[in-house]
Amino acid sequence: MINKISPDAWGSITTLLDHWFADAHTRDSFLPFDSNLVAPEIAKIAAALFKRGAAGLHDTATHSNIVLSEKNQRRDETIHALTSLKIDTFPHFSAWTKTHFSDAELASVAVILDSTLARLHPHVENHLTAHGARVFLIDCTEEKKSLGSVRTLYEQIAFQPHHIIVVGGGICCDLGGFLGGLLNCNITLVPTTLLALIDAGVGGKTAVNHPSAGKNQIGLFVPIHSIAIIDEFFTSLNADLVRQGLGEIMKHAWLSGSFNAWQPALHILLHEPCEQAFQSSTVEQLLRANIQFKLGVVMLDPLEENIRVMLNFGHTLAHLLERLMPISHGIAVVAGLKSMLNSSLIGPAPEGFEQTLDTLLVHEKKFFPLFAASKNESLLKTLLLQDKKQTSKLLDSESQKIASIRCVTPKYATLAQQPAAQRPDDIDNFLAKNITQMSLSDYISMLVRQGFFR
Ligand SMILES: NC(=O)c1ccc[n+]([C@@H]2O[C@H](COP(=O)([O-])OP(=O)(O)OC[C@H]3O[C@@H](n4cnc5c(N)ncnc54)[C@H](O)[C@@H]3O)[C@@H](O)[C@H]2O)c1
Ligand SMILES: [Zn+2]
Repeated sequence: MINKISPDAWGSITTLLDHWFADAHTRDSFLPFDSNLVAPEIAKIAAALFKRGAAGLHDTATHSNIVLSEKNQRRDETIHALTSLKIDTFPHFSAWTKTHFSDAELASVAVILDSTLARLHPHVENHLTAHGARVFLIDCTEEKKSLGSVRTLYEQIAFQPHHIIVVGGGICCDLGGFLGGLLNCNITLVPTTLLALIDAGVGGKTAVNHPSAGKNQIGLFVPIHSIAIIDEFFTSLNADLVRQGLGEIMKHAWLSGSFNAWQPALHILLHEPCEQAFQSSTVEQLLRANIQFKLGVVMLDPLEENIRVMLNFGHTLAHLLERLMPISHGIAVVAGLKSMLNSSLIGPAPEGFEQTLDTLLVHEKKFFPLFAASKNESLLKTLLLQDKKQTSKLLDSESQKIASIRCVTPKYATLAQQPAAQRPDDIDNFLAKNITQMSLSDYISMLVRQGFFR
């Protein structure tokens, strides 16, 4: 992206982002900055990171607008990387590195390593450092998934790596991928949780959280060059981590209409210990099918301008719950899917689908219903409107406030599965007609009826 971000530039970027979030700007707003205080080049970087890419900047000193136009280039780069993406499966990490990197190459590599994974599989760090790679350990918690952590890593690395290898769960992939985008180097992801493997590590989306605006509000789309599936890492997953990954797999199952076909593999993952489950070829096929499904959607719309939004199916409630209670992303998605199934917005689910969701939600059921929605309506509305999916395209023309909640339904999925020639020319128009909009109040009432709130 750029060669070097100075400490002053980091400070200005952070300040600008804080202002824009505080003023509740959307991706489509012209974001204000004062060129007497901040160089336009720095403001452009901040705008590229704001909700993963804003439409433009408004220079309050000169009263002029800057339209950001790097999107086309980023879209092309991402599609190019996706078409040449390599996905390797190896039983062991050391065998994979030996096959892909000479010692000379490893010496110019930066490895971002999830500290929990490093503790569980100590030979990874030993092997890498013995072969000259520079390893940077990170603690992967949602609190540490921040711009501050990206900055710290950026400053620690202090050299221009030719290649960045990211080994860890979804948080590590988000942080390391983001960093790789800033350093403008080749990126290889080695996702080590189920969720990271079938979702977070696929598709080039990276993001970190903002302390007040919430989850995944700052980020970049980055070209990923290769993904490695290393079997040995999945042996240390516990049942909770498997359930969390299964949440996103259930979303893919619904969107792709594959639940029946995937049921035997889902059964193995739900009921067998990881050591055995991940040895099964049925499970391996399921993992590959999930990666391919997601890649297929991403290829159609790499920068999430239209069709890719379908991957947010169930995520309106998921993101809300993540702000309000201790719940992992994957399980919050399970709750989101259940809410969509129990709404009148979509057709009936295949037999067994809802029971599987209930099995996945088993430990969280005790938390529901959460507090009284009627007493907290303004909080709920604020949180819902902070969701990146809500854009100014939905602005109510009279009040100039976002008036409705946008729910992504599987009608998008049928579109993605059609051959390109049969897709409507005006996708935006098609999507606008097929998107479900509901007022915020109606949406909150629905969540009360469904038992998520009192
Ligand atoms: N960028 C995207 O497109 C995208 C998509 C979905 C989710 N995400 C993000 O991914 C994150 C969730 O990812 P996650 O579920 O992997 O969570 P995570 O990264 O927090 O990992 C969960 C825990 O497992 C540990 N861990 C990692 N590998 C392990 C292994 N092999 N064995 C045992 N423990 C291991 C981690 O250290 C962590 O403590 C969220 O922050 C979410 O926003 C991003
Ligand atoms: Zn998700």
